[in-house]
Amino acid sequence: ENRGLTDAIGRRFEYLRLSLTDVCNFRCTYCLPEGYRKVHGRPHPLSIAEMIRAVRAFARLGLWKVRLTGGEPTLRSDFTQVARAIAAVPGIRHLAMTTNGYHLAERARAWRDAGISTINISVDSLDPARFAAITGHDRLAEVLRGVSAARAAGFDNVKLNAVLMRGVNDDELAAMIDFVAAHDLSLRFIEVMRTNDNVAFFGKHHLAGAAVADQLKAAGWQRLPRLPGAGPAVEYAHPAAKGRIGIIAPYSRDFCASCNRLRLSSEGKLHLCLFGDGGIDLRPLLQGDDENALVAQIVTLTATKAPAHRLSRGDSGATPHLASIGG
Ligand code: GTP
Ligand code: 5AD
Ligand code: SF4
Repeated sequence: ENRGLTDAIGRRFEYLRLSLTDVCNFRCTYCLPEGYRKVHGRPHPLSIAEMIRAVRAFARLGLWKVRLTGGEPTLRSDFTQVARAIAAVPGIRHLAMTTNGYHLAERARAWRDAGISTINISVDSLDPARFAAITGHDRLAEVLRGVSAARAAGFDNVKLNAVLMRGVNDDELAAMIDFVAAHDLSLRFIEVMRTNDNVAFFGKHHLAGAAVADQLKAAGWQRLPRLPGAGPAVEYAHPAAKGRIGIIAPYSRDFCASCNRLRLSSEGKLHLCLFGDGGIDLRPLLQGDDENALVAQIVTLTATKAPAHRLSRGDSGATPHLASIGG
């Protein structure tokens, strides 16, 4: 089992995205425009014990990075305990989280102390009214205060995520790039991905990452070489800028060729791809204590990961909003 987790085309998986809940308190237009609705009869989210069993099994297979996602992961009342427990699993060297920033200003320090080393924060606009229109919450100032608090709390890396939306925030590119130039953080522009829940929105507002790339090149930003094991973002730097800019363009060719991640939903389903099928239920194994069986199942399933998603073929399959899988 020390050969590590690989699939049929040789991709290695050392990074697990673990969704702690599908609940979110924002209602971003591209994700949950109607707001989160509880579906009755859904299973409880994974307990800490179940998550630990999962992470231990993945760690036995060489996995060393875990990102806590949601919905909004910090809505779980046991969030810091979850973080502490996962950070303590032998072999886990990097614990990351993704948040909408709602509780960040007051809790950044506690999350850092719980063992989280890097944090990604959604900031889709730097204009307060637009931020409110996108997320449903007039909280840009608080979120930006949270970003400062995160930097002060000593996270190794602070990244901002901005979903690119034609006609919504595409006139802010220059302002956002200036913001990064002045602050020591990364900003990633993300192409909107089509899901079952945003088909009309996607048609109207999808904007290709190439538009940003052109603007960056014109302003003297240079594309950095991709490191082995790097995530999906193509990164740019500028000699006079403190921060970096990334572009996540899932519709571009070859996006999937370097995929390095697996996902576990808050209900215990293994998703081999964000745009794959419904996920494979690992929960019975997470509730038992046969770790060898769990490890064997993970190895078998991972080997079947599809070479590429089907988004480029205009097919988002049965993919619900990303809050349910954790993005
Ligand atoms: P790091 O590389 O660890 O910083 O993580 P990340 O950039 O993947 O994390 P984050 O949670 O901030 O995700 C940023 C955006 O990238 C989200 O919209 C994700 O859905 C998207 N994304 C990340 N990985 C994939 C992937 O494998 N496929 C697709 N289609 N989108 C992805
Ligand atoms: N397309 C692109 N990005 C999305 N996110 C959520 N839904 C979508 C989508 N349909 C982003 C959020 C957050 C990250 C985890 O995923 O803005 O930054
Ligand atoms: Fe917005 Fe993330 Fe919540 Fe979706 S899960 S509504 S992207 S904050």
